[in-house]
Amino acid sequence: MAEEMHGVDPSAGHDVSVQEMGAVQQFTVTMIVRRFDPETMEEPVWQDFDVEAYSTDRVLDVLHKIKWEQDGSLAFRRSCAHGICGSDAMRINGRNRLACKTLLKDLDITKPIYVEAIKGLPLEKDLIVDMDPFFASYREVNPFLMAHSDPEKGKERRQSIAAREIFDDTTKCILCAACTSSCPVFWTDGQYFGPAAIVNAHRFIFDDRDDEAQVRLKILNDKEGVWRCRTTFNCTDACPRGIQITQAIAEVKQAIMRGRP
Ligand code: SF4
Ligand code: FES
Repeated sequence: MAEEMHGVDPSAGHDVSVQEMGAVQQFTVTMIVRRFDPETMEEPVWQDFDVEAYSTDRVLDVLHKIKWEQDGSLAFRRSCAHGICGSDAMRINGRNRLACKTLLKDLDITKPIYVEAIKGLPLEKDLIVDMDPFFASYREVNPFLMAHSDPEKGKERRQSIAAREIFDDTTKCILCAACTSSCPVFWTDGQYFGPAAIVNAHRFIFDDRDDEAQVRLKILNDKEGVWRCRTTFNCTDACPRGIQITQAIAEVKQAIMRGRP
């Protein structure tokens, strides 16, 4: 399956034509994708594709062009195509990104673009991994409101703007797994909850309408919980929602030491 790998550097003789169309550039980009088919392969291989693209295209658009015009067997997940569903996290030039939010104009298209599945989760096919271990950790932290009392009949649970602000950042998670699968501790320790589970625990630990923060703090005080974090900041760098994940993990650690949110 693998074809010869090569660059797109014009000086190296690669067939690159860059045409200006107003502010939009058109060019041939080389995308090198790590392919794996469990039915026919022992190990993944890299395969390169040359694709006509525009600077306004995203990595997801290039993957679509490959799938629709060159090789229909290419497997990847995507749904919304607008950074909301979290299904197309992948490693792009070695960094975890959403394919639908990564514009070609922000990459160096004089070089090939390397695309592979996120790490630390079982590889199923091409760019698709088994997300079950990721969601199992997420479920373990009880990522839902647990309140002992009912709101006043016909009324909502009231919360001040200041109280809502405390956990606003962690409400933005789209469960893409870019953070967890960029974490070296998660790669080497299949038991660590990982940053995404901690982010989603944080979202309820600091919600003053919730009554079970202690339950989550106890879960995260486990040997596979927050203390595994080595503060590498990979997670924060990878998050497509800009969530300050390392800070959220630090706040959960502080809450455990205080014994309360
Ligand atoms: S915290 Fe960010 S990177 Fe991690 S799963 Fe949520 S949205 Fe994705
Ligand atoms: S396809 Fe939904 S976030 Fe990228």
